[in-house]
Amino acid sequence: MCGIVGYLGKKPALPILIQGLRRLEYRGYDSAGVAVMNGEIVRMRAVGKIDSLADKLKDTKIEGTVGIAHTRWATHGGVTEENAHPHFACDGKLVIAHNGIIENYRELKEKLTSLGHTFKSETDTEVLAHLIEVNYKGDLRLAVETALAQVRGTYGLVAMHANEPNKIVAARLGSPLVIGIGEGEYFIASDATPMLAYTKKVTFLEDGEIAEIGLEGVRTFNLRDELISKKVEEIEWNDEQAQKQGYDHFMLKEIHDQPTVFEDAIRGRVDLEEGTAHLGGLNMTDDQMRSIERIVLIACGTASYAAMVGKYAFERLAGIPTEVDVASEFRYRDPIITDKTLVFAISQSGETADTLAAVREAKRKGAYVRGIVNVVGSTIARETDGGTYIHAGPELAVASTKAFTNMVAIMILYAIQFGRLKRVTLATGQRLIKALLEIPEKMNQVLKLNDQIKVLAEKYSGYKDFLFLGRGINFPVALEGSHKLKEISYIHSEAYPAGEMKHGVNALLSPEFPIFAILVKDQLYEKMRSNIEEVKARKSPIILLATIGDEAVKELAEDVIYVPDTMELLEPLVNTLLLQLFAYHMAVILGKDVDRPRNLAKSVTVE
Ligand code: AGP
Repeated sequence: MCGIVGYLGKKPALPILIQGLRRLEYRGYDSAGVAVMNGEIVRMRAVGKIDSLADKLKDTKIEGTVGIAHTRWATHGGVTEENAHPHFACDGKLVIAHNGIIENYRELKEKLTSLGHTFKSETDTEVLAHLIEVNYKGDLRLAVETALAQVRGTYGLVAMHANEPNKIVAARLGSPLVIGIGEGEYFIASDATPMLAYTKKVTFLEDGEIAEIGLEGVRTFNLRDELISKKVEEIEWNDEQAQKQGYDHFMLKEIHDQPTVFEDAIRGRVDLEEGTAHLGGLNMTDDQMRSIERIVLIACGTASYAAMVGKYAFERLAGIPTEVDVASEFRYRDPIITDKTLVFAISQSGETADTLAAVREAKRKGAYVRGIVNVVGSTIARETDGGTYIHAGPELAVASTKAFTNMVAIMILYAIQFGRLKRVTLATGQRLIKALLEIPEKMNQVLKLNDQIKVLAEKYSGYKDFLFLGRGINFPVALEGSHKLKEISYIHSEAYPAGEMKHGVNALLSPEFPIFAILVKDQLYEKMRSNIEEVKARKSPIILLATIGDEAVKELAEDVIYVPDTMELLEPLVNTLLLQLFAYHMAVILGKDVDRPRNLAKSVTVE
């Protein structure tokens, strides 16, 4: 959701900026732009893909070595070139790119208009550019600082001024910014991916910090204009990890990453001998863990379906009542939190605005708040008092796949760890760990079904609606399968716990309404089978995800795909992969933009 890139060094900035924007494409955007210090500031913007911007630039000679760039996801004002960033102020000497929302932009605009400023766009960002211009007295950082003191809202901001050609000023409040430190060159971006090819050394700007980046280095200040020292950190991800590695789409690559990244998630964290898991980041003593009376899992979208699997695991293994709360609801409904409540915030990006707000609310109310997060150094990771990285690696497709799997993996590990302190026996703990260690092989077996699933998707791609059914721990799997299908293929789809069908949804059943049902050999098998018989009687076409060897179910369905058996609690780690592949192939067959579905952003940093 909007992306910022900046470069200051000795190489031509333009190719680095354009390449950086491409790395941020996964966040979602509808226009892009770039501004480079080239004697004067040269700016170019275009609606649509970065290719349109690159096309416009191909015959220009811009050799400057300092510049900023932006991908915009429209909030204030339509998708037009005028509204695309970067934005100039009046005199063409000051230019900014901004993520976030300036809430009081209307009153600021009125004031600036009365001072004679004229505006060319409908954006809140342009207002901020003019506000900085008004405050500019020869020092860009001070002007930014003074201007920001007058705004309400959120920002990740980069600014340049033609009078100070070797300087970029960056500021953050609520919208992430990372500064990369190379050999005599510096990078600024919304996350580390644009700089991975050049450097692994980064500092993360915190809320309320302003950085002044020049050839001689980076100086960081707080809003009181005090110089502060920043820690330089090493990023583990390499550039290659962020590429497609021969797959047609990032999503397909990321689906296939799952056996490996699952191993990364559990490596060094499971203990077969003791039948338990060790997740040190929890920062709680055994006694504190035993004292927990309630767990609340807060998340959005796919992460919330992973959380629903987590609920089963925590309740079954640890015997701790567990709730799943969608973060956008949690933050406003005055949740009941005590000092015996443990809240986990679950997020791939670690930047989701609703989840972050829910974290702050839970902390305010005195809960233990921990993160289950993918992006290292992200805001949620830093604002929680501990937690665990899921080690899924960069997830660039908007549709989350491997992050779901690793979120589930980590919650199961936590549930085992809590369970072993309370009621799980050594033998059960050992069985679980052993079964977990077998999961990558089972995932590989599912991935081998890729071609079969593609044929299936071809057969069903003409339908306009879909219904996913599951029970027990496979109900969240059904929800996630449905979520994947709608977000990338735009096919209307719903998911229900199969036992609910007779209370309303049965009315929808017809030959035009196919059902994708999960019927695996677990404790709810017989119940689920009866539910499917009822669907069959109403003539909906049925696809079944079934357990290898269960030949008897063939009479129930049009199509059956078999997956390997595992312990019931671990079934989502196997079954979800098949539904991800189904959604992927449906979207490809229908010609959709799989990695960047319409109207969606990877990192939802606004409410
Ligand atoms: C997943 O496919 C979606 N793009 C979306 O639901 C996502 O899971 C949600 O926005 C939460 O994101 P987060 O995990 O980065 O917090």
